[in-house]
Amino acid sequence: MAIVSPSILSADFARLGEEVQNLVDLGADWIHCDVMDGRFVPNITFGAPVIAHIRRAVPAAFLDVHLMIEEPDRYLQQFRDAGADQLTVHAEATRHLHRSIQATAATGAKTGVSLNPHTPETELEYVLDDLDLVLLMSVNPGFGGQSLIESVFAKIERLRKMIDDRGLPTLIEVDGGVKMHNAQRFMDAGAHALVSGSGIFGADDRGAAIAAFKAIV
Ligand code: DX5
Ligand code: ZN
Repeated sequence: MAIVSPSILSADFARLGEEVQNLVDLGADWIHCDVMDGRFVPNITFGAPVIAHIRRAVPAAFLDVHLMIEEPDRYLQQFRDAGADQLTVHAEATRHLHRSIQATAATGAKTGVSLNPHTPETELEYVLDDLDLVLLMSVNPGFGGQSLIESVFAKIERLRKMIDDRGLPTLIEVDGGVKMHNAQRFMDAGAHALVSGSGIFGADDRGAAIAAFKAIV
């Protein structure tokens, strides 16, 4: 069964607490929080104070925090203190990825690394064993509602083989353009977790959409 992580990038930010509570009540496994700094990506969203408010409003939520920010090491502890359960940094946004991974693990959060569409999975050759999660971008990060980039499927397959060959429990999460009509393809390629923003928030029945994503094997 797929782990489903609805992206609150598509939520009504004026009612964020209610929106997150609703997603949890409807069976969302994780809540995907897209942090954007206007430098690493051409868009700005929110920072740790908003994560802290979500954490207080919905204590039961598993907060899957995707840091699309330059120099993430400077903010890891702040996001952890705010209530992040899982912290994912971009390989392209840090000069010393190994150090960023160790720093993430030191906060006690689940440790994730994300790769942009152009970044090969081999970038993770010497750090894969230290990761709880790899987040493969299936669009260029920065905006919701984009169409997926096909090359991600080969990358998922190759990364899944690296993980299985080493017998690791590392999870593969995919993010961008994941919709009901293509979700099976991501799972068949080897993904474990599906992020979906517009696919869930744009559905007539969010609960049915979450249930349908979760039912994919
Ligand atoms: C894109 C974000 C995604 C985004 C996905 O930069 O990282 O999490 O919310 O949105 P959809 O599912 O609409 O492509
Ligand atoms: Zn994301």
